[in-house]
Amino acid sequence: MPCTVIVGAFWGDEGKGKIISYLALKDNVDYCVRTGSVNAAHTVWTKGKKYALHMVPAGFVNPKCRLFIAAGANVHVAKFFEEVELTKVHKRISIDNNASIIEEKHSAQDKASAFNKGLGTTGWGVGPALEERARRTAKLAKDLPELKPYVLDTVTEINQGIDQGKNVLLEGTQGFMLSLYFGTYPYVTGRDTGASAIASEAGVGPTRVNDVLIVYKSFITRVGTGPLPGEITKEEAQKRGWFEISAGTGRDRRSAPFDFDLAKKTAKINGATQSAVTKLDCIYPKCQGERRFDELPIEAKQFIKEIETQTGIPVTLIGTGPDALDIVDRRK
Ligand code: IMP
Ligand code: MG
Repeated sequence: MPCTVIVGAFWGDEGKGKIISYLALKDNVDYCVRTGSVNAAHTVWTKGKKYALHMVPAGFVNPKCRLFIAAGANVHVAKFFEEVELTKVHKRISIDNNASIIEEKHSAQDKASAFNKGLGTTGWGVGPALEERARRTAKLAKDLPELKPYVLDTVTEINQGIDQGKNVLLEGTQGFMLSLYFGTYPYVTGRDTGASAIASEAGVGPTRVNDVLIVYKSFITRVGTGPLPGEITKEEAQKRGWFEISAGTGRDRRSAPFDFDLAKKTAKINGATQSAVTKLDCIYPKCQGERRFDELPIEAKQFIKEIETQTGIPVTLIGTGPDALDIVDRRK
């Protein structure tokens, strides 16, 4: 804090939603800004209820947190209204004037494209919607009467918040290895997913960001096609207790063990100042629900220390279960 970027280290689904919801509750985050688009689902567990959010920022769990959808984001109108209703955030969510609109036709184009099928896109149409934005023919949020009550110059609002010393979280989506620039091209998404791009989408200059928190999961997963170094079989993943199904599309997630070289590289390129490691309980079941570092089994502590040694940044938050509060917080 005060202005922190949350970025995913691998191919998405690192557990950013959980980390953001924890920070929103614990650090009294004033503003949470969602970037990216509807292809990314952020899972948040709070008060025994599970949310898979495609539009509403994960900081919604704190009722005092104001929510913004960034100027660089891409809004799916039906999903936006559905989630606003679900999370009851009508009075505290705004969409930037210049956010672009993703339409049904983009999804149809995405699904009809044999090439995109080969990439295993989510089918939401984010690539085609961003193409249209680059052609300068996209609809923007300010063009739609039904969005009028929500539309705002969020860029001014967010920057004024930073001036006033508010706690601002810039919520990245997907993972760094899906970046259009730095990922495993062409098996990537339609935008840069890195920390600089997250700040850029929100309209926050690089000198105004105080912290970059990179989120690692204790193992790596990927949905869709493209390289995944060290990939293991579904059977092996089930045996190890880390097999997952995608929150967004219901597809099986492919998986691989944690990759220290990749962790080091992504920390460096994103300028990370600290990291979170999620799902430690999936690889060390004795960690389940633990909230104190001292209580973790020795192998789990060694794993965390190895991540710190290799990346050169502290692991400040460790996820030990699905609930927003199942965290070892080492900042205290
Ligand atoms: P697109 O973003 O729908 O164009 O899909 C491009 C690639 O990114 C595919 O491999 C998708 O599975 C992957 N992808 C897109 N969004 C997410 C996400 O939120 N989590 C994980 N993978 C994603
Ligand atoms: Mg996800």
